[in-house]
Parts: sequence; C-alpha cells; structure tokens
Amino acid sequence: MDATDMGEDLERVLVEEERIDQRLDEMAAEIDRDYAGENILLVGVLRGAVMVMADLSRKIHSRVEMDWMAVSSYGSGTKSSGVVRILKDLDTDVHDRHVLIVEDIIDSGLTLSWLKENLEARGATSVRIAALLRKPDAVKVKVEVSYLGFEIPNEFVVGYGLDYDEKYRHLPFIGTLAPKAYGG
Ligand code: IMP
Ligand code: MG
Repeated sequence: MDATDMGEDLERVLVEEERIDQRLDEMAAEIDRDYAGENILLVGVLRGAVMVMADLSRKIHSRVEMDWMAVSSYGSGTKSSGVVRILKDLDTDVHDRHVLIVEDIIDSGLTLSWLKENLEARGATSVRIAALLRKPDAVKVKVEVSYLGFEIPNEFVVGYGLDYDEKYRHLPFIGTLAPKAYGG
C-alpha cells in the first residue's frame, strides 16, 4: 500500500519510511548497549506493534525471544475508553526475565502503564518499554518509555501497523487521516 492507494483518506505523511528505518537503527543500538549479554523477551502488543516488532527485532544483535499479547482499550473508534482487557495472554512465563514491551503508539498511556505493572507483578526481572510514537496526552499517566521513536502531535495517525477500523495497517509510513475518512 502507498500514498496513491490512500487517495483522499490521507491528509499528510507525518513520518516517512526512511525516517522510521533510521530511528529503529538507533533504538536497536541503544537496546544492544543497555542489555549487553542479556537475553531479552520482546513482548509485542497486538496488533499495532507487528511492524515495529518485525523491523526493530531484526536490527537487534542481542539474543531475543518474542511473544505477543493482545489487549483492548480502544474498540474501533478514535478515543481511548480507559478500560484494559487481556484478549490474548503470553505463552511465556516472564518470571526472572528481562521484558521489553514493544508498542506502536502511546496515546493516553493507560494501556502501557497497566501492562507494565501487570508484567512486573508476574515477577519479571525488568520491564521496559519501546514505542515508536508518543502523543502529548501521554503525560497524563506517568509511564516511563526507555526507547522512543518519535513525539507526534495530537492527531489520529495510521500506517506502519496503526489502523483506523482495521484499515491502513500495511501503509509503510505514518500518516494523518483526513477527518472525512473517520467521519469527522
Ligand atoms: P492508550 O492506552 O491511550 O495509550 O492507547 C494506546 C493504543 O491506542 C495504541 O496501542 C493504539 O492501538 C491505539 N491508538 C492510539 N492513538 C492512535 C492513533 O492515532 N491511531 C491509531 N491507533 C491509535
Ligand atoms: Mg494498539
């Protein structure tokens, strides 16, 4: 999928494919430095983090395992409900593991602060967060992000794993959605 396929649904490109790739290189290098010699359990948050997980993990030289969780706080709209439910739990026991949560975007931060506490309570040695994007609202809930790709304005974005109503996830860049595309 590219900008042409989006037609008038695309308002503008916010983060180009090349910039994502370069930033993930830098994040992977930081991760390798911080976890030197350790085995990392990467926990991807389905479904939005699939692209970040695939590209970031391939740039990491440290030993990693991957597992996935699905949580819900959004439904199909564009506003956070504040309710977090586990839809799919990990298959891995995180006890005594170094866990690195891989997420697409932090909006309110509710999902991640809840998830971090949840994994800490299971006895993980460490739980850190890597997120590609963060919106300004994230300051409302205190959640520490160890590896952050980009700070973006408070707009609804799609692409590179992020959807609107399950659409546009396969767009290779991050773009803003024209209001008419989500009935705005
Ligand atoms: P939070 O709990 O408010 O931080 O919500 C985070 C989740 O909401 C992310 O994992 C995304 O699935 C979704 N989300 C937040 N902002 C956007 C956006 O701009 N586009 C698409 N999904 C979003
Ligand atoms: Mg998500």
